[in-house]
Order: sequence, then C-alpha cells, then structure tokens
Amino acid sequence: MMEEKKGEYKILFVCLGNICRSPSAEAVMKKLVQDAGLDGRIKIDSAGIIGYHAGEKADPRMRSHAARRGYKLDSVSRPVCTEDFFDFDLIIGMDNRNIDDLKRKAPDLESVEKIHQMTEYSQNKLYDHVPDPYYSGAEGFELVLDLLEDACAGLLDELVQFIGSDCHGSKRRVTRIGDAYAYVSKKFGCQAADEIF
Ligand code: 4NP
Repeated sequence: MMEEKKGEYKILFVCLGNICRSPSAEAVMKKLVQDAGLDGRIKIDSAGIIGYHAGEKADPRMRSHAARRGYKLDSVSRPVCTEDFFDFDLIIGMDNRNIDDLKRKAPDLESVEKIHQMTEYSQNKLYDHVPDPYYSGAEGFELVLDLLEDACAGLLDELVQFIGSDCHGSKRRVTRIGDAYAYVSKKFGCQAADEIF
C-alpha cells in the first residue's frame, strides 16, 4: 500500500539477511528508476529481518552474479528498524516468512498496509516468492536476478502510473498501486477516477 503524495516515493526492499535478495532488488530497481529518469522521485533502500550480517557488503556470490548483468551492489547490510515503517511508503519482502516477520515488527496498522511481497509485481507469474539463494548454487543466484528484474519492472510500471500523472495533489489513499483507481485514472484520467471512487 502506498500513500499518494507529492515529492518522493520511498521503497524499502527486505529479505532475511540483507546480503543477497534485497540488495539485489535495490540495485535492479535503482537502475530501472535511473533509466526512467525518476531517481529524483523514487528513493530506494534495503534492509534485513535479522542483523546478523549488519555492516557487511552483499554476499560475494550475489555481487558476482549481479555484476555480470551490469549491477553494482554497494549497499551495506542493516536490520529493519521501527522508523522504517514510518519513513517508507512501500516495504517489500521477498518471501512469506519475510512478510510474517515484517507484520510482527510493524508498529501500527498503517505500517502493515505498506507491506507487500515482491512477486505481487511479477509479470511472469511463475513464482510466488523470491527463493533464498544462500545455500544454493549458481542457479539460485541467477533465479533471484531473473525474478527481481521481472518484478521490479512490474513495480516501476505501477509507480509510473502515478508519478507520470497529474494526480499528485490528491489526498486519496490507494489500497494498492495497481488497483482499480490506477487503472481508471490511467485510461480515463484522474478526474474520471476521482468521480468514480
Ligand atoms: P538473503 O539471504 O536473505 O537473501 O540476504 C540470506 C543471507 C544470510 C542468511 C540467510 C539468507 N543467513 O542465514 O545468514
């Protein structure tokens, strides 16, 4: 869920350790956002459910696979904190366990509504989560990147519907960025959407 507003959208990607999946999501999304010329409008960060790897760079295997696709993973692992739930508009977990843990950590109901799963934005609906690659071989890291490239493109697509429109003055809350309001406003304009909803 996301609060429609002027200014920046802030997205936090979350996985268990913040050394494989969420730093990769951060890098993939940053590149897409930059390529779309939206880096002034969308801010991206990542964090982990656990602080076990806090202060570490991303896993060298993940960095190496990502580098082959042109992504530089330069984030430093940190655990999710309460402030994140107030600070970010969207908090995106990689698997069901991340989602359950995030919901347990959320300080209020509004924060819970910000929590979504990465594969909700997938265009190729082959996986319902981004599998943990930590104990996998090379194919696990490649799969993470495949899934993230697909889902981040879907996420950007949804974000652009608002960011590229004139709807930013509206105070209306959207239940999900690709919901019926977004569909109608994209197809018929914000005024039509506001009249209907
Ligand atoms: P990530 O992968 O959640 O994608 O960063 C993992 C990293 C570390 C561990 C597990 C998964 N670990 O058990 O330390």
